[in-house]
Amino acid sequence: MYICQLKRKKRNMKDITLKSVIHVYKMSELNKREQQLLELAIGASERAYAPYSHFKVGAAVLLENGVEVTGCNQENAAYPSGLCAERTAVFSANSQYPDQPIVALAIAARNVNGLLKQPITPCGACRQVMLEAEHRYQHPIRILLFGMESIYVVDSINDLLPLQFVSDSMTI
Ligand code: THU
Repeated sequence: MYICQLKRKKRNMKDITLKSVIHVYKMSELNKREQQLLELAIGASERAYAPYSHFKVGAAVLLENGVEVTGCNQENAAYPSGLCAERTAVFSANSQYPDQPIVALAIAARNVNGLLKQPITPCGACRQVMLEAEHRYQHPIRILLFGMESIYVVDSINDLLPLQFVSDSMTI
């Protein structure tokens, strides 16, 4: 009986395959605006306050009006009270320019040995905040993830956050 149920379940099982596209670039292959945004993120990482993890992250946001806003991680002795670089930058941009869509976001990180060789990818909470910003302004955010050896670029948070929870999820 148990085995029969298992078999039936297997026959009815379906897979959902999710697809993300990540463009891989060298710095020289990006346009000047994107290179500048990455340089700003690298610069912001130097200003991080990370006395506990010694992992310094910088983020730079480009708004539709051309203004750039940076942020870096801010740690706290009471660990959960700190904030990631990405959310620091996004919240700062949204606070100062509430009518401006975010069009691009660059992220860079360094550990005690220097800038990371491979691209840093944002944590889940930061992805959720980027998703909210895309929905709020109805504008995709181009996300640039810096690594010394390669740079990952996605055209929207959709490529980093599948099966999303958005405000509409509460009504479907
Ligand atoms: N951190 C960021 O700022 N952004 C990320 O995408 C990942 C992690 C910070 C949080 C904490 O201050 C330190 O890096 C180690 O997790």
